[in-house]
Amino acid sequence: MSSSLPAAQSALDTVPFTIRVAGHADTAAFMELIAHADPNDPDPFGLARDILARRPERPLSHHRDLCLLAEDGTGTVVGALLGGVPRWLLEHPGIDTLALADRMVSRLGMIHAVAVHPDHRRRGIGQALIQRAEQRFAQAGYGLMTLNHAPELDDYYRSLGYTVDDALLVHLPQQRLIGMTTDDTRMSAKPLHPSVRLADVPGAPHRVITSLLPGAALPPGASFDGTRLQY
Ligand SMILES: CC(C)(COP(=O)(O)OP(=O)(O)OC[C@H]1O[C@@H](n2cnc3c(N)ncnc32)[C@H](O)[C@@H]1OP(=O)(O)O)[C@@H](O)C(=O)NCCC(=O)NCCS
Repeated sequence: MSSSLPAAQSALDTVPFTIRVAGHADTAAFMELIAHADPNDPDPFGLARDILARRPERPLSHHRDLCLLAEDGTGTVVGALLGGVPRWLLEHPGIDTLALADRMVSRLGMIHAVAVHPDHRRRGIGQALIQRAEQRFAQAGYGLMTLNHAPELDDYYRSLGYTVDDALLVHLPQQRLIGMTTDDTRMSAKPLHPSVRLADVPGAPHRVITSLLPGAALPPGASFDGTRLQY
């Protein structure tokens, strides 16, 4: 049996693609593409419609939101990525002051969704979108990228440098540790700066994200007593 691909597929594999920020005029194509990331929801990521209606603004594409798309040589949209602020950061009881929330939303980013058109998968488009997003967040001063995904994509995200886990534990100043988990998806993370680490801490049920904020560096010998970090 031949292992060569059908001619049409081979031709598709060589079509170049480019990645750019999505704007208001891209709304329909962006929404159609991003819906592939959650096909069971009639209007997943409806929030992106509002984001794209806004004017582009630093530090990401639309202030603290990022809308990227991939298009082929004819301008057809073949992939989309939506990133921004993890919603849990705004609701977590451990993030108890506006100042702390402000610092966290400027350091901890999230890819809410990434999707590639089924006809264009496995050509590196998903990887290129994710890497471009990581670059944009890193340039904007973020220290960590996070994302939720189904267990079927564990290997995919591992291959892109993510630590795959069921929860996020984040070291805050004053020896505090906050956690976040979801019932049915992974919570994976990747440092965007060499100073940010995922550390094994005795007593902590998951790896701990440390040095994300000033005053939250973990000295050797630190442990977790169930309430606070001890060091
Ligand atoms: C997940 C997704 C974005 C990947 O995009 P893609 O452009 O096809 O991926 P890439 O070409 O960058 O993949 C590179 C490698 O990752 C692996 N990979 C890709 N998709 C995979 C999948 N669904 N499961 C496991 N591994 C996968 C492959 O090993 C591939 O390498 P290969 O060419 O040697 O096979 C795409 O499959 C998709 O849109 N899926 C539906 C939406 C979704 O699940 N989004 C993620 C959650 S928000």
